[in-house]
Amino acid sequence: NKGKYEHYMQKEIHEQPESLTTTMRGRLIRGGSSKRKSVLLGGLKDHLKTIRRSRRIVFIGCGTSYNAALAARPLLEELSGIPVMMEIASDLLDRQAPIYRDDTIIFVSQSGETADTLNALEYALENGALCVGITNTVGSAIARNTHCGVHINAGSEIGVASTKAYTSQIVVMAMVSLAIGADTISSKPRREAIIESLLNLPEMKDLAQSLISEQSLLMFGRGYNYATALEGALKVKEVALMHSEGILAGEMKHGPLALVDENLPIVVIATRDQSFSKQQSVIQQLKARKGRLIVMCTEGDAAAVCGGSGRVIEVPLVVDCLQPVVNIVPLQLLSYHLTVLRGYNVDQPRNLAKSVTTE
Ligand code: UD1
Ligand code: F6R
Repeated sequence: NKGKYEHYMQKEIHEQPESLTTTMRGRLIRGGSSKRKSVLLGGLKDHLKTIRRSRRIVFIGCGTSYNAALAARPLLEELSGIPVMMEIASDLLDRQAPIYRDDTIIFVSQSGETADTLNALEYALENGALCVGITNTVGSAIARNTHCGVHINAGSEIGVASTKAYTSQIVVMAMVSLAIGADTISSKPRREAIIESLLNLPEMKDLAQSLISEQSLLMFGRGYNYATALEGALKVKEVALMHSEGILAGEMKHGPLALVDENLPIVVIATRDQSFSKQQSVIQQLKARKGRLIVMCTEGDAAAVCGGSGRVIEVPLVVDCLQPVVNIVPLQLLSYHLTVLRGYNVDQPRNLAKSVTTE
C-alpha cells in the first residue's frame, strides 16, 4: 500500500525516519545512574569476543549493499582497530581470493537471497571463517546460513531501487562497530539527531528539473562520503536511466578532470568532516575549469563553500561517521524526481529485478 504516495520508491525515501527508528529499536541502551550507554545486538553478543580477535574483517555485498558497507567501513576500522577489507561478492569469487579461519566475514544483503552473495557465503564457510549476516529478511538464505548476524528491521522494501534499506544497513553497521568497539558510546543522542535531520530534509524537485535532459552526471565524494557518491550515482543510473558516475575526489586529477566543462553537471559532496578542506580545494579547481557544480554542504556553509555560484544542497550536520545516512537522502530524492520527470518507471526500472537470484 502506497498510502499518500505515488510510488513505492517515494514512500520508502520518506519513510526513512521511521525505518531508522525501527532499526534501532531495543538495541540502544540509554544509560542512567547505574547503566552505561551501550549497544545491544542480540544476534552478535555471543560472538563479539571472536570478532574482536579476528585478524581482519571483510565486508561482502553487491550494489547498494556494498555501498552501505563502504560507508560504514571507516567507523568500523576506527572503533575496532582491525583492518577492514571490502569485497564485491562476484569479484571475490572470480578471484577465489584467500579467506582464513581467523577472518570475520560480514555479508550484507537486503533480500538475503542474492546469488552472488550466497555463493560467497558458501565459499567463506568452506574456508572456515566466522560468517556474520546483515539482512532485512528474516528466514532468508543469508540469515539461515550465517553463524550469527543482525536483522536490519527496515520493513519490506518494494521499490526495486534500494533506499531505506541502505540507510538502515549503515545504521546497523554503525551499531555493529560500536558493539565491537564497545567503549566509545555516545550514540543515542547522535542517532536522535539524525532522525531529526532526516525529517527536515529539503525537497529536491527543482534541481531534478534542471537536470532532466542531461546525458551524464558525476558525483565526487571522499572519506565517509565516497560511498555517498557511489550510491547517489547508482540510484541515478538505475532509476533515471541516465549515465552517472561516483568518483573518489582524490582521484580527480588522475583522469576524471578531463571530462569537466561548462555543461557536465557535477555534484560535489563537501559537508563538514576531516575531508572538508580538501573538498573545498576540489571545488576551487572545478570552478577554475568552469565546471557546472552542484555542491552539497552543511547548513549555513553555502556562501563559504561555493561563494554564491552554482546550485547548493544544504544538509543538517550530524556526527561525521553517520553523515552518509543524511547525505544520501537528497540524492535519492533527486534520482526519484529525475525519473518521474523523464517519464520512466520508478519502482520497476527496466531490466532490473528486486532480488537477483542468478549469477
Ligand atoms: C530478536 C528477535 C526479535 C525480538 C528480539 C527481542 C527474531 C528474528 N528477532 O531480535 O523479534 O524482538 O530478539 O530480544 O526473532 N541472524 C543470523 N544471520 C543474519 C541475521 C540474524 O544468524 O543474517 C541470527 C542472529 O544471530 C540471532 C537471530 O538471527 O540469533 C535474530 O537476529 P536479530 O533479529 O537481529 O536479533 P535481535 O535483535 O536480538
Ligand atoms: C540498487 C539495488 C541493488 C541491490 C543488489 C544487492 O538499488 O537494490 O544494487 O543492492 O542487487 O541486493 P541485496 O541487498 O538484496 O543483496
